[in-house]
Amino acid sequence: MALQIRLRVNGKEHESSVEPRLLLVHYLRDTLGLTGTHIGCETSLCGACTVLLDGKAVKSCTMLAAQASGAEITTIEGLAATCNSHGSGNGASLHPVQEGFWEKHGLQCGYCTPGMILTATALLNENPDPSETEIRTAISGNLCRCTGYQHIVDAIQYAAKKMAANGH
Ligand code: FES
Ligand code: FES
Repeated sequence: MALQIRLRVNGKEHESSVEPRLLLVHYLRDTLGLTGTHIGCETSLCGACTVLLDGKAVKSCTMLAAQASGAEITTIEGLAATCNSHGSGNGASLHPVQEGFWEKHGLQCGYCTPGMILTATALLNENPDPSETEIRTAISGNLCRCTGYQHIVDAIQYAAKKMAANGH
């Protein structure tokens, strides 16, 4: 039996009829075509599927689409549009966390990157001036095979400084 769900994704309302078993990650990728949210393990270990749900980082592979009904979701495709620090907030410029990954070489293959960026964004929204230990703890649920993590930490520290300077 299909369920009717309604959620807001990257600022846009969506109403869909879904199977109760449909995972949020499959809804985002297959129904909405937002393939920036990656699938790694599908067991809540790797964090590649992380999105923001009402501002909190969640692993969308272990949540049903129906559970997200009524929520506000941000995926990597919509993150730049949430940023008003140096533009109109229309997505024309990168979010500071994205900029940090660009400037500090925080990615190689990029597979973990959307999840890392959204986890880092949730951290900085809650804790604008995290210590290195707090950053490492925050991203401990996101696995990266490529970078050795130091560049990712540098990228998040860059973003924290930039956001503070912009009065985020
Ligand atoms: S795909 Fe969701 S945590 Fe790995
Ligand atoms: S950049 Fe390749 S998995 Fe992290």
